[in-house]
Amino acid sequence: MSTKHSEQDKYLPPSFQDFTAEFTVQSPGRINLIGEHTDYNNGYVLPTAINKNILLQFAKNSSEHHCNIYSKTYEKNFSFDLREISRNEQQWENYILGVISEIQKQEKELTGFDCIIDSDLPVGAGISSSAALECGMAFGLNELFDLGLDRQTMAELSQRAEHNYVGTKCGIMDQYASMLSKKDHLLLLDCQILKAAYVPAHFQGFKILLLNTRVTHSLADSEYNTRRKECEEAVLAIQKKHPQAASLRDVSFDILEDVKEELSDVQYKRALYVLQENERVLQAVKSIKTGDLSNFGDLMYDSHVGLRDDYEVSCKELDFLVDFSKEFDGVYGARMMGGGFGGCTINLIKEEAVEEFVSKASAAYFEAFGIQPEAIIVEPEEGTKLIRS
Ligand code: GLA
Repeated sequence: MSTKHSEQDKYLPPSFQDFTAEFTVQSPGRINLIGEHTDYNNGYVLPTAINKNILLQFAKNSSEHHCNIYSKTYEKNFSFDLREISRNEQQWENYILGVISEIQKQEKELTGFDCIIDSDLPVGAGISSSAALECGMAFGLNELFDLGLDRQTMAELSQRAEHNYVGTKCGIMDQYASMLSKKDHLLLLDCQILKAAYVPAHFQGFKILLLNTRVTHSLADSEYNTRRKECEEAVLAIQKKHPQAASLRDVSFDILEDVKEELSDVQYKRALYVLQENERVLQAVKSIKTGDLSNFGDLMYDSHVGLRDDYEVSCKELDFLVDFSKEFDGVYGARMMGGGFGGCTINLIKEEAVEEFVSKASAAYFEAFGIQPEAIIVEPEEGTKLIRS
């Protein structure tokens, strides 16, 4: 069954008036329970895909090389020739072009296609609309042209698209979670060997609540790459005494103390945070498995302190919401989520406390910053999939 565009799509650009989708791909955003800025340090993360998605409708067109993309979110379309893929001025277009370029590097044959993109995933909220877009594009093209790529390969090429076309030297967490999550589970991913264990998300009586600060400070991208560089430089300094340390994953607390004098204060703080955060992820998994959500909540708060003071990627808006939650009995844990400098806090909260907390936190946040935060309840969902064919 093909999906013809509906009445409400009358505003589609002319190139899409005859568009008939062959199938739709649903590609989710992600949350991360704990394990921030550990992925590119070969550490542990605990993300999962969520019930907020980007939807991509695909169809081949009659041309050999010409492609048309339309984003309902941006109400913008663009076209390109598959023989002339290059970086663009428009960042959202680069997520798409980057994926196509990475697929072409694998010597996979594409021909002309059209794609309409829609989304209920907030952009800039730190829930990885970018990874969802990349993974949805990779998954759709794999399906449309029968490329034979597996999910992990698609996650990895989506990450490279972001490095090479967007310029953010991100880790693998977002793309892996968007592609490989399972419903009602968290994904304990060991980023050193790229192997995941699925942990049942046993949060009966609780909700996972995101509070979107609705701010994105402009230094987010540049500081992200700077953090990555600082960690790599710390490893280089550590290697002088401990050459076997290929990444911070190979560095114990003892080694870190041993080389403290060799590191700058900043390098030491960054490394200390990463070592501690890796431990917290493993402890968090134990706490969730044994139902000790109070301990898990404490680990979330500790993670936030590390991100704020040692890794220095928080901001006053995120700190405000995390501090506010501490005064509130029904919230067991909260922390900033994702790259930092804006986006969401993630809160583990008793179901019955959600309404009152959202209302009080929103009022207080509005009074402090003049911004109405957005409250989003999320559920762990499965990764990128085909929803109609
Ligand atoms: C962004 C990146 C991820 C990860 C997080 C921080 O979301 O895309 O790879 O590094 O920040 O944990």
